[in-house]
Amino acid sequence: MSKVLVMDHPLIQHKVSLMRDKETGTKEFRELLNEISMLMAYEVTRDLPLRDIEIETPICRAQTKVIAGKKLAIVPILRAGLGMVDGIMSLVPSAKVGHIGLYRDPITLEPVEYYCKLPEDCEEREILLVDPMLATGGSASAAIHFLKRRGCKHIKLVCLIAAPEGTSRIQADHPDVNIYVAAMDEKLNDHGYIIPGLGDAGDRLFGTK
Ligand code: PRP
Ligand code: URA
Repeated sequence: MSKVLVMDHPLIQHKVSLMRDKETGTKEFRELLNEISMLMAYEVTRDLPLRDIEIETPICRAQTKVIAGKKLAIVPILRAGLGMVDGIMSLVPSAKVGHIGLYRDPITLEPVEYYCKLPEDCEEREILLVDPMLATGGSASAAIHFLKRRGCKHIKLVCLIAAPEGTSRIQADHPDVNIYVAAMDEKLNDHGYIIPGLGDAGDRLFGTK
């Protein structure tokens, strides 16, 4: 069974609270998501393998370490996942970025695919699939299916706020994918929105409502 890791660092909790507030406007919402994504990237990349190298400091030669092994790809689920890319990229600037376009049908709550473009060598990369909201889990589960169909084997799901229904769905459908969240909320309402959540992440990020 995959693990759910809740990153409840005080800075992250503080910033998530600001994002939840309905009075927080688009500019601040975007900045906060960017900052939280950067803080989450620090934890999500904790297990990256290292290799030894020798360098010359201004004082002497030294054995030191750099990141080795698999390269990273960040894959946002459009639209709201876009808000998490820059924060992660600021820590891992060499990562490639793929895009998966999905929207959730408001009646059926089922994900509808409209775009998929991934790095050519995505099957060799460790994938960070990012989306601020994990509600029913339908969108993230479908996105992981696309990634696996393209040969991706090492996938981590990084979300800002999750509902228990969403994490259970991913654990059932994809027991090999660990889930990193900044907050685990209580439940979903009848329209599939996370309670207390923060509302519609895409609309708040892009000011479309
Ligand atoms: C939101 C969110 C997730 C999805 C989560 O996107 O960003 O992708 O809903 O819901 P689920 O876990 O029940 O699938 P939305 O469909 O609103 O599209 P948008 O990002 O374009 O606004
Ligand atoms: N999508 C969102 O943007 N917010 C929710 O609470 C659920 C799905």
